[in-house]
Amino acid sequence: MLSVCKAPGKLILTGEHSVVYGEPALLAAVGLWTKTLVKRVGGSIINLSSKQLKGNQSLDIESVLVFWQKAKEAWEAWQSGVSSNLHSIRKDQLVVLKVTAGEFLNKFAKEDLGFEIEVDSEIPVGSGLGSSASVAASVIGGLCRAFEVELGSEDLSNTVFEVEKIMHGNPSGGDNTAVVYGGFLKFEKRDSKFSFRQIEIKASEAYKIILVDSGKPVESTGEMVEKVGENFKQRRAKYKKTINSMGRVAKDFIKDFKKGVFNKDLISQNQKLLDELGAVGGRAREMVQLIEELGGAAKICGAGGIRKGSGILLCYHEDGDKLKNFINQQKWSYYSVDLGVEGVKWRQ
Ligand code: MEV
Repeated sequence: MLSVCKAPGKLILTGEHSVVYGEPALLAAVGLWTKTLVKRVGGSIINLSSKQLKGNQSLDIESVLVFWQKAKEAWEAWQSGVSSNLHSIRKDQLVVLKVTAGEFLNKFAKEDLGFEIEVDSEIPVGSGLGSSASVAASVIGGLCRAFEVELGSEDLSNTVFEVEKIMHGNPSGGDNTAVVYGGFLKFEKRDSKFSFRQIEIKASEAYKIILVDSGKPVESTGEMVEKVGENFKQRRAKYKKTINSMGRVAKDFIKDFKKGVFNKDLISQNQKLLDELGAVGGRAREMVQLIEELGGAAKICGAGGIRKGSGILLCYHEDGDKLKNFINQQKWSYYSVDLGVEGVKWRQ
């Protein structure tokens, strides 16, 4: 029998990067889905496949656990500033699936735990829409259904966070929270704990948002977070000021958003501050400028990228049709998606 689990993507309306430093962020679960099919096969064979990652690997339980253990040790070493092979571990095409499967096996190892998983995701990989968190949540959710394991949402989110650490080094915890709980969320990282609250909105201009592709970043989310971290270490006073300003923008944006107001000027300010942090590349900068000239606002909505693309841009205009026509004229590829959708669907 096949078990199915679906998890959404996420985007950050305001507060990416600054959220890593304890400032608030506004997140939304996005209606682009990762679907995982799980089949129990007994024995000790684990078969992992993903269409988008273009990989299929067949391993035994022991090898998955050895890979997972090595990845954990590499992260610990990296975290304490010791030379580590974390980057080379991430080069494995199916690293996210292997580490996620390892988390599950480590928690619930028992006899005859063999399984096959097939992952199919609508979320562009490495473009700021939470693809790794979505994949990890749908895989763990699917495995829990297949093996009738009870796991609360908090445990699921924490497990996905463990995978996120391997993938991104020092994540805030925002991505796992958004894909597990869904909706619109005000999120803050307090020391090593997350605090979040779902925001109810009746009608929002946010539904006019169009997600435009500025090109896949060459840098991974982890590399971008590390890069901002290095800038921060080298020029602490300057970058601290920028991060604090981002926090203020996020607080004001969230205040307006709760009232149903979509403050596009704050979106533009957030984008400028992200550029100051060094998270935006030339192509994305040009695209944002064109949208501002049209009377709209745009910003990156994940970690960004500098050398080539900066991932998905959140684009907004009061006149949604005008924005869509412009995007079509420019021949930019885009997604019109639902925002604030429900979180991982693993219980029904
Ligand atoms: C990545 O989607 C967003 C960042 O703020 C990192 C994080 O929150 O973990 C850049």
